[in-house]
Amino acid sequence: MGLELSQLAKGLGGSAIREMFNEAQNMTNTISFTVGEPDFITPQPIIEEVCRRFEEGLTHYTPNSGVAELRKAIAKYHRDRGELDPNPDKNIMVSCGATEAIQMALFTLADPGDEVILPTPAWPNYFGQIGMCGARLVEVPTREENGFAPDPQDLLAAITDRTKVIILNSPCNPTGAVIEKARYDAIIDVLKDREIFIIADEVYSRLVYADEYTSITGYKDILDRVVYINGFSKMFAMTGWRLGYAIAREDIITNMTKLHENGASCLPAPTQLAAAYGLVTCLPKIEEMRLSYLRRRNLICSLINKIPGFSVKTPNGAFYAFANVKPVLAATGMNSKELCMDILKNTGCVTVPGSGFGECGEGFIRITYATSDEKIIEGMKRIKEYISSLGLAL
Ligand SMILES: Cc1ncc(COP(=O)(O)O)c(C=O)c1O
Repeated sequence: MGLELSQLAKGLGGSAIREMFNEAQNMTNTISFTVGEPDFITPQPIIEEVCRRFEEGLTHYTPNSGVAELRKAIAKYHRDRGELDPNPDKNIMVSCGATEAIQMALFTLADPGDEVILPTPAWPNYFGQIGMCGARLVEVPTREENGFAPDPQDLLAAITDRTKVIILNSPCNPTGAVIEKARYDAIIDVLKDREIFIIADEVYSRLVYADEYTSITGYKDILDRVVYINGFSKMFAMTGWRLGYAIAREDIITNMTKLHENGASCLPAPTQLAAAYGLVTCLPKIEEMRLSYLRRRNLICSLINKIPGFSVKTPNGAFYAFANVKPVLAATGMNSKELCMDILKNTGCVTVPGSGFGECGEGFIRITYATSDEKIIEGMKRIKEYISSLGLAL
């Protein structure tokens, strides 16, 4: 046996996002378009509430599934929006970020060898999380001409006897794709008569710029096999607080909570209570932030489209522009990772290669626009000047 580390741990790859982030750490004058997190600070009332709760002495363990106040607030929030009507005691588990909820959902739904369908390009953690369950990843590439929304026929073609779970992420990280109603209807048509669980990751559901948003919650007939995922990271700019949640039928939540008990046990009471307070007092803040991202989305897309060899289709959600850089790659012979490294070295702008989000992401780079207008303007100017200086025939 020896002192070998596990195959699982050794087999896990690091994410391209972190790789670029780390690469930039020793450089000066960089502008980060890397990590997917709001540049806003958590709304002040939530911060004041957490301090108050700590000072009250709430420093102990909490129930594994989360404090009752937060589960009730989550249930009310979704009920008020006409989306879901979960029983706070049976259908909700509070997790260490949406990240942990997704992992616990996968552990609960998939056995080793089962297939998990993932439309790609996709959030890199899904790849590792599927691997950690010993499940088999089945990538279903999406297409730029469809705005990177999954094609129902492609999903159908990927389904086998071993398919256990499909992950749907709308709005999508890294493409910003939002699945429109007609397409969503067609996807649900494919899934509804098949025994396949759906993990619906809607962490960006409040960051939608299209007139309409179709949520999995609109498909009441199939909700008994949906694990609905959301969280506070993007909603209230609370990425560092690590608070997410899952909503699902009772047996799924009970089993997810057992896994969560063994892995993380519970979350701090003050942070959970502060998030519950946010759901009561800070909802207007979400709209303020959304409008700010909308303005930046328009700004960054117009600037990207002026860079020679770059183009981007306007994304309808989240805060990512997935820019097509194929003409630059063809002219330079680089791949997207080499281009991102080159851009970093020559401009200080930190972007993420599309290949980090699945094979079909090659040819693209992800540029996060959850940053200031000034940084967006300066960063895109630097990249434009650099690409122009290469004298490529574009
Ligand atoms: C699609 C998607 N799902 C889940 C998460 C995880 O969010 P959390 O911070 O709540 O763990 C992220 C974070 O970037 C994400 O992009």
